[in-house]
Parts: sequence; C-alpha cells; structure tokens
Amino acid sequence: MNKILHSRMSGIATYLPEKILTNDDLAKIVDTNNEWIVTRTGIERRHIAEDNEYTYDLATKSALKTLQAENISASDIDCIIVSTTTPKDKCPATAVKVQSLLGAKNAFAFDIQAACSGFVYGLSIADSFIKSGQAKNVLLIGAETMSKVTDWADRSTCVLFGDGAGSCIVSEAIDDEHKVIATKLYSDGNRYDQIVIHNSEKNNCRGHMTMSGSEVFKSAIRCMAESVNDILTENNMTIDDVDWIIPHQANARIIKSLCEQNNFPADKAIVSLQEHANTSSATIPMAIDCGIKSGKIKDGNMLLLTAMGAGLTWGSAIVKL
Ligand code: ACO
Repeated sequence: MNKILHSRMSGIATYLPEKILTNDDLAKIVDTNNEWIVTRTGIERRHIAEDNEYTYDLATKSALKTLQAENISASDIDCIIVSTTTPKDKCPATAVKVQSLLGAKNAFAFDIQAACSGFVYGLSIADSFIKSGQAKNVLLIGAETMSKVTDWADRSTCVLFGDGAGSCIVSEAIDDEHKVIATKLYSDGNRYDQIVIHNSEKNNCRGHMTMSGSEVFKSAIRCMAESVNDILTENNMTIDDVDWIIPHQANARIIKSLCEQNNFPADKAIVSLQEHANTSSATIPMAIDCGIKSGKIKDGNMLLLTAMGAGLTWGSAIVKL
C-alpha cells in the first residue's frame, strides 16, 4: 500500500435552520438591545432550530450538500465524524443517526466533543485516519443546536449563540495544491469551569450554561494566538504565507484583538458571525463557506483555521483548500 502523505479537505457546505432570531427579537425576551449586542459581539442575528429539529437533522442536511458538491454517494463514505456539544440524546452518537439518515451503510460513525474547537479536532482525527489508511472518505461535520441548551432568561449568554451545521469531506490529497498541511491541538482542564453546560434543567432548557465571559474572552485571544504562532513556526511559515485566517466565530472583538495583538492583518480574517452567531463546532466550516460564497476564498488558497472552546480546548490547522 502506498503511504499517504496528505489528506485534503473539500466539499465545504453548511445548513442553517430557517427560523431567524434578530437582536430586536431578543430584546423582547431579555433586557438587552441591538446596539449592545452589535457593539459588544458583532452578532446581528442567529438561526434557531424548530422544537422537533435536532442536531442530527442539521448535520444530515449539511452533509447532503457536501455529498452533492463532491458528487459522491453516501455509500462511498467510510467514516462519519460529528463534532457536537448538543446531541439530541446522550447515547447513541449523533453520527450514527446521520449514517442512518444518509444511508451510509459502509461507514463507521462516532461523535467527538471538544466544544467550539470540535471542527479542528475532527479535522485532525480525519487527517490521521486518511494518512494511516483506515479510511478513504471521511465525512466531517460540526453541528449544534445551542438554542436547546441556552437559558433564555440569561442575557449574558442567550444573545451569543445560534444553531447550524457545517460539513466537508476529508480524503486522500491527489495533488500538492489541495491538502491539509498540519493540525495542532491543545487543552487545559484546569480551566474547566470557565464555560460549562450543566447537566440540569433550568428555565425549560436541557441543561444550562455558565460562562465567565471576560475570562473566556481573554483566554480565547491568548489560546488562538499561541496555537497560530506555534503551527506557523513548526511549518516554517509566517502569516504572510496565509491567504485567509478562519477564526472560531464567537465575538468580532475577539477576532479583532487576536489580529491586533499579533500583527495579523485584520483584512485576512473571515468574519461571518453577524449572520449566525456562535454555533460552536459549526462556526469554522460556516466561515469558510461564507468566504467562498462571497468570492474571497478561492481554489488553492492557504487557510489558517483556529478555534478555542470549553474545556478549555483549542487548536489550529493549515489547509490548502
Ligand atoms: N445586553 C445588555 N447588557 C448586557 C448584556 C446584554 N445581553 N449582557 C451583559 N450585559 C451588561 C452586564 O450586566 C454589564 O453590566 P454592568 O456594567 O452594569 O455590570 C455590562 O453589560 C458589561 O458586561 P460584561 O460581561 O463586562 O461585557 P463584555 O464587554 O465582557 O462582553 C461578552 C460580554 C460578550 C460575553 C464577552 O465577555 C465575550 O464575548 N466573552 C467570550 C464569550 C465566548 O467567546 N464564548 C465562546 C466560547 S463558548 C463555547 O465554547 C461553548
């Protein structure tokens, strides 16, 4: 068997539920206003799943678009990885339901949970499966229904999150122009308490979130900067070699500070959070999709993905798309 040197990422697609909740809509539920939310976060609206629409539904709808974009059938998929913090049920995995809904009968399927860093973690796992020959076509999905674990009475968190899914195929690189160059992952369980989705019901949601907003804000900038600088150095690259930075989409001020404090050109950062808010592990494929659709990201561009989430977990990836 030939040694596979690189995987590639292709077929980026996203799915957002139809229902839109604007900042003005939120102002009718909690004591907030559009100006506060836009100024402090950059978020303008978020999509919210219906009561009977679950993470596996969003994941499947995004995956179908990926299969169509790649012109491959579900039976060609041999591994499905879903990154989610918001499965409908604790067990079995969201990924096996997606397998069933797609009819991907030749796949093995499982979930990972690394909060907002989940897509980068999933990409790293998929890349390893391709390089080791354990899989040929990995369907990687980040999917969340954050609205179902949001405490809609807590204005400090309910304005921040939205629902959605993003997906891609990770397969063997067939040329040097489209490949996953590197991934790098980190975690620090000593900061477990900074963001927690508790396993208890509050105000009619299936769990409730507590977050030290300002601590997370500072951690996000430091962690993403650390992983970006490490991965670039380890791969003998600088920010000048990167066409687009794709940061986790939590807060526009975090992205701005990340760029300013590290001398990254701010106009290289893709920002899409105004449209969908923080969809946790789905934000990175959503931002890439937005960048492609707006004509910014082009075939063969060098992308630098970076994310930080609960755990804390964080990490980066360099991808020639
Ligand atoms: N509307 C109006 N006022 C509000 C709101 C709101 N929605 N929320 C808080 N406030 C008030 C506060 O009560 C406070 O009032 P006070 O000064 O009278 O006490 C004031 O606004 C300022 O509050 P801060 O918390 O200091 O506001 P800050 O500028 O830090 O912004 C925010 C808060 C947006 C949460 C910010 O800290 C942040 O983005 N943190 C990072 C969150 C994040 O990235 N999470 C991602 C990880 S999630 C995951 O992994 C699942």
